[in-house]
Amino acid sequence: MDNNFDVIVLGSGPGGYVCAIRSAQLGLKTACVEIRKTLGGTCLNIGCIPSKSLLNSSEMYHKAQKEFNNLGIETGNIKLNLSKMMDNKEKSVSSLTKGIEFLFKKNKITHLKGEGLISSSDTVIVTDDRGEKKTYKAKNIVIGTGSVHTTLPGIKIDEKTIVSSTGALSFKKVPKDLFVIGGGYIGLELSSVWKRLGSNVTVLEFSDRIIPEMDKDVSTEFQKILTKQGIIFKLDSNVTGVKVIKNKAIVDFTNNKSAKRERLECDKVLVAVGRKASIGKDVSKLDIKLDSKKKIKVNEKFETSIKNIYAIGDVIDKGPMLAHKAEDEGIAVAEIIAGQAGHVNYDVIPAVIYTSPEVATVGKTEKQLKEENVKYKVGKFPFLANSRAKVNNNTEGFVKVMADEKTDKVLGVAIISTLAGTLIAEAAIAMEFGASAEDIARTCHAHPTHSEAVKEAAMALDKRPIHF
Ligand code: NAI
Repeated sequence: MDNNFDVIVLGSGPGGYVCAIRSAQLGLKTACVEIRKTLGGTCLNIGCIPSKSLLNSSEMYHKAQKEFNNLGIETGNIKLNLSKMMDNKEKSVSSLTKGIEFLFKKNKITHLKGEGLISSSDTVIVTDDRGEKKTYKAKNIVIGTGSVHTTLPGIKIDEKTIVSSTGALSFKKVPKDLFVIGGGYIGLELSSVWKRLGSNVTVLEFSDRIIPEMDKDVSTEFQKILTKQGIIFKLDSNVTGVKVIKNKAIVDFTNNKSAKRERLECDKVLVAVGRKASIGKDVSKLDIKLDSKKKIKVNEKFETSIKNIYAIGDVIDKGPMLAHKAEDEGIAVAEIIAGQAGHVNYDVIPAVIYTSPEVATVGKTEKQLKEENVKYKVGKFPFLANSRAKVNNNTEGFVKVMADEKTDKVLGVAIISTLAGTLIAEAAIAMEFGASAEDIARTCHAHPTHSEAVKEAAMALDKRPIHF
């Protein structure tokens, strides 16, 4: 095999594999190095995809138990077969990771199996699982090595009693009492899964609300809905330690406001307090510059401090740690390497929490607009007044549109709805095109659909929603 490439990508997550495919499409001779047995990175193997499978299955189980009867669907005794549910999850993961293998073959991308280390600005050494090393040359190297979970001081994740998301996606039986440290994306999605499957779930969140970066009205409404579903929240809670004694976890935490200390016992603890960039030892050896959070610094062309070495995705100092952001960066950097003008609009990156209902946001929050001294107006429309949501019995949530007070340009949108993750795409397109709220209000939306609530929220900016 010829060991010279135009592009070698390190990591095959949504950033890396998409970058490899786009590079190959542009006629660049491309290789992608992956240490895992399967392609797809955290997202496909132990993140977005398996969690969405369990979110879907657990929601079906919950609906069959609690909602079918009200719709006139009478079933027998509904029973959970957790190992079958896990098998179904594994099947989804396997078919999607194999799908990437197929796409690599189709695009003639060389899949280098093993750990890749950059030894100089044009050399990558790959060590396979038998310890054999091979050297490859590349005109361009793209680092897309992603991120790994973090923990708190004094808490050691053993993936048995104290788990990261990886362990919480593979419990062999439903924990009776599950404590979740961190009311963020991972914490709330996995709390939903295990609550629906029968666990008593308590979320310990350091801040005074869940998803602290969202606007207060959004996080308060969201918390209210999750509380109704039976999840217990202990806000302002600083977890100071977790010990494992005889397969039980003993969790110590202190209330930030009252300084009251508590100690509670449970079966499993999920630590979901954020992720950190996965930086290989080669990055520090080569003296690639990092920011204060130990993420790789890149310029607008995704170039690191070393010529011909680029970086994308969770590992860089730009944008949120989201799979779709990494994908867009993968495309952009491939186009830049090929001499085109790739770019990512960091002002319009949607974020979705896949609970039920889902919570989705794009653009600015009110807090950010206030900090930037932007004068804005807000239009809100509740799903309680949306006919399709009423028919489907999913009236929780609302659409909130923020627009510039003078120009009416849409600056941010937040949606709580069973379909929020899909509905937010309309807001993202509108923002990408620089639409005004009036543009959304004057666009004909099909009836009866949840999307009419987006139109009505845009109309509410001008105090003229029809159904509320
Ligand atoms: P996160 O940053 O979303 O949430 C971490 C939470 O832990 C925050 O609310 C924080 O206030 C809290 N926290 C921090 N220290 C604490 C302490 N000592 N005690 C109690 N609470 C504490 O991080 P998470 O959920 O681990 O997710 C990691 C990354 O993965 C995020 O960047 C997220 O964007 C991404 N992700 C995205 C998903 C999606 O798009 N649906 C799903 C899962 C993860």
